[in-house]
Amino acid sequence: MKRVFSGVQPTGNIHIGNYLGALKQFVELQDENECIYCIVDLHSITVPQDPKELRKHILDVAALYMAVGVDPKKSIIFVQSDVSGHAELSWILTCNSYTGELSRMTQFKDKSKGRESAPTGLFTYPILMAADILLYDTDIVPVGNDQKQHIELCRDIAIRINNTVKKDTFVVPDGRFLKAGARIMALDDPMSKMSKSAENVHSRISLLDEDNKIKKSIMRATTDSDGEIKFDFENKPGVSNLLNIYSAFSGKSIEDIVAAFSGCGYGDFKKELVGIVQEALTPIKKNFDEIRQSQELLDTLRSGAERAGAIAEKTMKRVKGNFGLGF
Ligand code: AMP
Ligand code: TRP
Repeated sequence: MKRVFSGVQPTGNIHIGNYLGALKQFVELQDENECIYCIVDLHSITVPQDPKELRKHILDVAALYMAVGVDPKKSIIFVQSDVSGHAELSWILTCNSYTGELSRMTQFKDKSKGRESAPTGLFTYPILMAADILLYDTDIVPVGNDQKQHIELCRDIAIRINNTVKKDTFVVPDGRFLKAGARIMALDDPMSKMSKSAENVHSRISLLDEDNKIKKSIMRATTDSDGEIKFDFENKPGVSNLLNIYSAFSGKSIEDIVAAFSGCGYGDFKKELVGIVQEALTPIKKNFDEIRQSQELLDTLRSGAERAGAIAEKTMKRVKGNFGLGF
């Protein structure tokens, strides 16, 4: 059995990009693997958070994990800050990584924009992510494409420490990326990825959006003026992104969808897509409403932290021992 680990930041507005890139894989993997899914709250404080809002968002993400089908009987669901090993291992990895490799991370470059006042946490964020993964002897990390560089860095650090400190210190993990949902682009600007924080709410579809909002966002999605439905990301990024979303939600191949809509206008295609997305999100919203109010949610997080903590403690003992730390 392989060990799977992944995490989502509790920053609100979990959208269909998060779902198709990451959450959907979480569910697919849990039958045949030992899965650990984390709400990475320590990552979210790399930018200032309102404490009340943060608490709410942590519970929202946990409830969404369960609402999309992550089953706490099969998988561990827990909150990162409930297990102290994440921050502790992060320091050991910090001492074994280079400022040069962190400076090359595109997410850091995008978010810091060269400001001297960029928080240090934004810079060291990929190390904390590596600690999350390595703490559980993870084999597979299901994530969206945007995390490829961070996974590579995690592997580099693990291999480096295995070579310089002791061979069995870390399991070297692999990323797992889905073809159809790996990179969902913003509906209003198909050259940027769909994001939780973009100002325009119609740039994304959040998993908890009402039917009407889903319709509005899709009907106004940016396309182009040539009127032909085909997949060509370079020249037709808007239509290609919608085809990707259609394919990921319906399970149909892009070719089949293009064939089915040959001769149709964008309006007809978008209307069908509205129905498909609404239908997919309806049960998720219903499950979410039930789970979010339930005692089961808090019980799940409590027992999840205990189970994750026991695994983390074992790894930390081994890692610290290899470094000559701790008694
Ligand atoms: P984050 O929103 O940064 O916490 O990301 C949570 C997960 O969703 C990660 O695995 C990301 O790679 C994935 N993800 C975020 N945005 C997108 C997107 N636009 N398309 C596909 N996957 C995404
Ligand atoms: N950095 C990831 C993101 O922004 C979230 C994350 C933190 C993560 N730790 C992780 C994902 C560990 C996978 C494994 O999407």
